[in-house]
Amino acid sequence: MARTVYFVGAGAIARSHVDSVRHLPDSDELEIAAADPSPEARAGFDDHVADARLYENSEEMLSESTDPDDIVVIAAPPFVHRDEAIRGLESGRHVLCEKPLAMDVSEAEEMLAAARANDCVLGSCSCRHYRTPGTEKVKSLVRDGEIGEPYHVTWVTRGQRGRPGIEYQPESKWFLDSSRSGGGIVMDWGPYEFATLDDLFDPEVVDVRHAWTAQPDTDVDPEDVPFDVETHGGATLVYQSDNDSVTVTYERASGTHGGARNVTEIEGTEGALRWSWTEVGESTVTLARDENGEVVEEQFTVNPVDELGPHERPLVYFDRVVRDGDAPIRTGPDALGSFAVICSIYDAAEFGEAQHVDLSNIGETASP
Ligand SMILES: NC(=O)c1ccc[n+]([C@@H]2O[C@H](COP(=O)([O-])OP(=O)(O)OC[C@H]3O[C@@H](n4cnc5c(N)ncnc54)[C@H](O)[C@@H]3O)[C@@H](O)[C@H]2O)c1
Repeated sequence: MARTVYFVGAGAIARSHVDSVRHLPDSDELEIAAADPSPEARAGFDDHVADARLYENSEEMLSESTDPDDIVVIAAPPFVHRDEAIRGLESGRHVLCEKPLAMDVSEAEEMLAAARANDCVLGSCSCRHYRTPGTEKVKSLVRDGEIGEPYHVTWVTRGQRGRPGIEYQPESKWFLDSSRSGGGIVMDWGPYEFATLDDLFDPEVVDVRHAWTAQPDTDVDPEDVPFDVETHGGATLVYQSDNDSVTVTYERASGTHGGARNVTEIEGTEGALRWSWTEVGESTVTLARDENGEVVEEQFTVNPVDELGPHERPLVYFDRVVRDGDAPIRTGPDALGSFAVICSIYDAAEFGEAQHVDLSNIGETASP
């Protein structure tokens, strides 16, 4: 059997991933297969991709003979990520899993244990907006001491009516049901955000001092399907490494009656940095500093290293890692740390208690 990229789930994001196959170096020889219990999803995938092998379930699909560089992309809702990822790994294939990695940390550790036991790579799609040109520039300016000691981060992204399962992709009602999605908009976008914060500050410990979630009512809230996830959430976190400590004020909304807002800013003792962290193309970083008692701004324009869009990055970067290359994607235990922070935000909000995440332990105990 020729090297194959397998998709578990043939819905919206699988169709998006499959478009990135053309960027893989051996795209002409690669084969595509997909498994999905939904006939509509299989038909949609079939219309989108010529010559894909289609299956009703992954057991049958993954019983095909294996090529050492086969990749399985888990492109189904989070409640099946653990079982489907483990099935892919146990078939001897590398697994690229959609975000969020799993429903909770213990599931993610089981997945990592299966990767170790089968000597395969487990990667996370949290790299769509990871190490973007702007974020790389910010990292180098912080490292060069341009803003002195960083002490506070504002990470606020608020949309008024962009709820997955309602205004965004209304056909995918699983987004609204925590038993299938793992959570709401923090679970949905947090994997990108906390992977980037982790990379910026490389913390040993993250304390979630306080967190909250909310689901503001609207006149179009669905009543015929489970809808128990937050559409607005926030937290105060402290990132600690060596003697450094940075407080992060985090907020994310897909549904709020308050104003839309988008601020990503790091404040330090000598200056502040603002940028658009999701931008994978050319972008601008603003450095604000004091000059003679006035705030003076300097702008840096930065360019991408490659021409990949956010939805093309996960598969192309994972493929590079599978072939022993280097790429800005989190794999193995590195994929777990920021996911543990997200889970702790939910725990802090639910129990009303601060949570302590020791990142040095995450994933270390996951063994076959
Ligand atoms: N839609 C987006 O914009 C987007 C972006 C980034 C990441 N994601 C992530 O991708 C994943 C899938 O989201 P989506 O938007 O494609 O959802 P979707 O609802 O469009 O498609 C999911 C598909 O998975 C199938 N499925 C369910 N259980 C399965 C199983 N056990 N085996 C095989 N197929 C199964 C469903 O039948 C459905 O066709 C989620 O983790 C989501 O967070 C989605």
